[in-house]
Amino acid sequence: MPPLEIAAIPGDGIGGEVLDAGLRVLEQVAEIQVTTFPYGSAYYAEHGAMLAPDALERLRRFDAIYFGAVGSREVPDHITLWGLRLAICQGFDQWANVRPVRFYEGLDGDPSLDWVVVRENSEGEYAGLGGRQLAARGPGNEVAVQTSLFTEKGCERIMRFAFELARSRPRRHLTSITKSNAQQYAMVLWDEVFDRVRADYHDVTTDKELVDAAAARFVLRPQTLDVVVASNLHGDILSDLGSALAGSLGLAASANLNPDRRFPSMFEPVHGSAPDIAGQGIANPLGAIGSGAMLLEHLGRADLGDRIRAAIAATIRDGIRTRDLGGSHTTAEVTAAVIARL
Ligand code: NAI
Ligand code: MG
Repeated sequence: MPPLEIAAIPGDGIGGEVLDAGLRVLEQVAEIQVTTFPYGSAYYAEHGAMLAPDALERLRRFDAIYFGAVGSREVPDHITLWGLRLAICQGFDQWANVRPVRFYEGLDGDPSLDWVVVRENSEGEYAGLGGRQLAARGPGNEVAVQTSLFTEKGCERIMRFAFELARSRPRRHLTSITKSNAQQYAMVLWDEVFDRVRADYHDVTTDKELVDAAAARFVLRPQTLDVVVASNLHGDILSDLGSALAGSLGLAASANLNPDRRFPSMFEPVHGSAPDIAGQGIANPLGAIGSGAMLLEHLGRADLGDRIRAAIAATIRDGIRTRDLGGSHTTAEVTAAVIARL
């Protein structure tokens, strides 16, 4: 097999710390060739843009993109997020955001739980449509419109993706998250598409939940969940809730997939740049390392992904944990422990 060509974008804060850890693990199990791109808040300060004009063209040639996190106190969050992460996700039509929520043995959660949040990643509430106007009328008069965009095509493709995933798992259950009582256009369309698509998957059991009730269900009846399909905003929120229930945001891995494979997919921990702990060497690298496992899986090496995940589980079980998991080990110590257990 030729080496895997990986574009690494460390970004800001702990992004680089955890991405380094992830790359160290990847290079133990696979032959990789890494090209690092400097995009992030410092790049913005110098160039006035989050990405170079030809960035997407260059990134497109890679097998996969491995991303840390972006966000700093110097640049507003909507600029860093839209200028970098969303520019790549939307530019490469990475419409499926897969966020497994793993409950590890040795932590407080119930290790028999195993969820995947499948988040629509190309439209919905993060379609980026809207504007601000009327500021010239004087203080207190400005208006803002932020429009959600739900297309039948967008709903259908993410739902079929979630059904296929549910079908491949032992529980074969899919929960659709909605808010169609209040959002009578977009989320009613979402529900109708779900009902239509579900007819093609008789081997998968389904249910629907309003997003507010779903948040309570994550906490109160977690054993009733398997795969969850949700809109961009709902999936974003519920996956953070899920990973917090599983022990820490620092554990959560994710994949931004272009399932059609017209473009490279991007793999990143769910967490942000965590400026409160950046530079201290104490960030939990397991979310980034787990994202590396998803990268290998996407590139046809599920066996290597499984090896990495087993090493993560063993590291946690053996009590080698960063502070967010109640331990006192450093990023480097946890990374070395994962490598030793591969
Ligand atoms: P955050 O995820 O960076 O941090 C939330 C809390 O979790 C903090 O207390 C942090 O210390 C902790 N935490 C996060 N990851 C951790 C890890 N690996 N190990 C140990 N503790 C960890 O979210 P926050 O504070 O809302 O945002 C900080 C910045 O990150 C903002 O600029 C935000 O826009 C950006 N952000 C970027 C994302 C991305 O690049 N994909 C995603 C979320 C936020
Ligand atoms: Mg988020």
